[in-house]
Amino acid sequence: MKIFNSTKSLQQHLKKEKAKNKSIGFVPTMGAFHKGHLSLMRKSRRENDLTIVSVFVNPTQFGPNEDFKKYPRQKKSDDLLAKKENIDIIFYPSIKEMYPSGFLTYIEVEDITKHLCGQFRKNHFKGVATVVAKFLNIVKPHTMYLGQKDIQQAFVIKRMVQDLNFSTQIKIGETIREKDGLAMSSRNAHLSKTQRKEAIYLYKSLKMAKQRAQKSTIKPKRLETLIRKIINENTKASIQYVTCIDGKTLMPIKHLHGRTIIALATYFGKTRLIDNIIFNAR
Ligand code: PAJ
Repeated sequence: MKIFNSTKSLQQHLKKEKAKNKSIGFVPTMGAFHKGHLSLMRKSRRENDLTIVSVFVNPTQFGPNEDFKKYPRQKKSDDLLAKKENIDIIFYPSIKEMYPSGFLTYIEVEDITKHLCGQFRKNHFKGVATVVAKFLNIVKPHTMYLGQKDIQQAFVIKRMVQDLNFSTQIKIGETIREKDGLAMSSRNAHLSKTQRKEAIYLYKSLKMAKQRAQKSTIKPKRLETLIRKIINENTKASIQYVTCIDGKTLMPIKHLHGRTIIALATYFGKTRLIDNIIFNAR
């Protein structure tokens, strides 16, 4: 496994690999690998000749009161896990490498960044879109792998790739969960024992809502209320949003029809957890 810190040396290496006509898979991450990350790496390994993983805790996607400083950084164990997965290249750029002094250019994806997480995390998706665009230009992968867990992020990046004519194909991997259903997240490590136990009600409530929606007709608002009730009755979490959205456009809906997503965000103490479920409504 090769480790690169500089864009220049990574690109020099990739030039040689691309000359051998290798297909390149790319998994962008912020590190602190868990099984969600590893499943994307495996998918890329299966489908490509060469897999690159980037590890960069991107400051521009964190708000001033968010957990940029507290975000887990575990380079040693990440290196070991990536090696075990037979990853070819890890790219660890510094903040200076990605945002040298004088940096002035950002990418703004409109509309689909204004609700859900975007409503509460101003500029978050601007930071995500910008850093991913930079990585796509640096690596120029054939395929990039993203997780369903961050469903709005996946939609935003897909939109950007289409709108700005990037030639990378995007594949979305399913959400990987703990045995009890909690979606794997680097932030789960910050949960107390009690919060960890309560956190299972996020996915439980989403599954119950899905079942209810597939049984007979129900309005999105009532479905959202049902989820809020389950979470409020079983946890001390505060709910930031629970929203039913169109599974094709990501926009809020007044009636359930066809491919539907229910997405939610909650705070367990200071720890922000998100999850979502996708299904076909009746
Ligand atoms: P990070 O949170 O490290 O996630 C990296 C990738 O792993 C994302 O595509 C995310 O959706 C996916 N992922 C996270 N948890 C998952 C799970 N439980 N199951 C499946 N996939 C999961 O998302 C980011 O980093 C950043 O915003 C990034 C795209 C790297 C830009 O900085």
